Amino acid sequence: MKNVTDQTTTAKGIVGRYGEIPLYGEEGFEGMRRAGRLSALALDMLVDAVKPGVTTLELDKLASEFARDHGAIPANVGYHGFQHTLCTSINHVVCHGIPAERELRDGDIINIDITLIIDGWHGDTSRMYAVGAIARKAERLIDVTYESLARGIAAARPGNTTGDIGAAIQSYAEGERMSVVRDFVGHGVGRVYHDAPQIFHFGKPGEGVELKPGMIFTIEPMINLGKPGVKVLADGWTAVTRDRSLSAQCEHSIGITETGCEIFTLSPGGLFNPTLKSVAAS
Ligand code: MF3
Ligand code: CO
Ligand code: CO
Repeated sequence: MKNVTDQTTTAKGIVGRYGEIPLYGEEGFEGMRRAGRLSALALDMLVDAVKPGVTTLELDKLASEFARDHGAIPANVGYHGFQHTLCTSINHVVCHGIPAERELRDGDIINIDITLIIDGWHGDTSRMYAVGAIARKAERLIDVTYESLARGIAAARPGNTTGDIGAAIQSYAEGERMSVVRDFVGHGVGRVYHDAPQIFHFGKPGEGVELKPGMIFTIEPMINLGKPGVKVLADGWTAVTRDRSLSAQCEHSIGITETGCEIFTLSPGGLFNPTLKSVAAS
């Protein structure tokens, strides 16, 4: 979601909306397990469909049929006027790419982002797909992005803060000479699609809000090979890198537990990371 830091100090409505962080109990965690698993299953289903010649609109149709067949509501449809089940973000597109007639080509990398709603619970997840054989630098970008998410998740435990998550991601990605996008952030998720708290993918240890058992949110770093700057195209959605460098993203929905966190959107098929062959529950 959009980084709304500026608005929190200027727009009263936003202050209220992003000020209160819901805490969920076992019922919420159970709901998120079901919604998260189904969204991850949808992304697993798309693995074999992502290949040269397929259009992103065809992928979107597969996903919306999957949602319908499983009794789920795609949260993106109708979200601020967005009309598709998936966001499909190819190469230098950072996020919120709109499914279209564009055919995938050998060497493309694409992020697919889906949120399915089951019984009111939102399972939000995205991952990267490689189309045919990809360049070494694209593979490295994907690896660094996945490791960034893993380090963010490792910092997600009671007593730590949202800043600890951001710092873990930023220090690692920048240490690999890549950059962290600032304009979009992770977010509370659960009964509401985009809720408090905001999860920055950059920051300083100890900053932000303290993590407490029962908090549920996404971590979804966007990492660029070039500079961090992005711009949104005239369609109002598609965010691209200003320098047209490659960008990657991956996203899990997680819940803070007494001892650490639970990931709700693990891939049932072990297909989360495309640069690995298959790792159980990767
Ligand atoms: N799923 C995206 C996120 O991670 C939001 C997509 S909103 C849409 O927050 F309207 F672009 F689909
Ligand atoms: Co999200
Ligand atoms: Co998402």
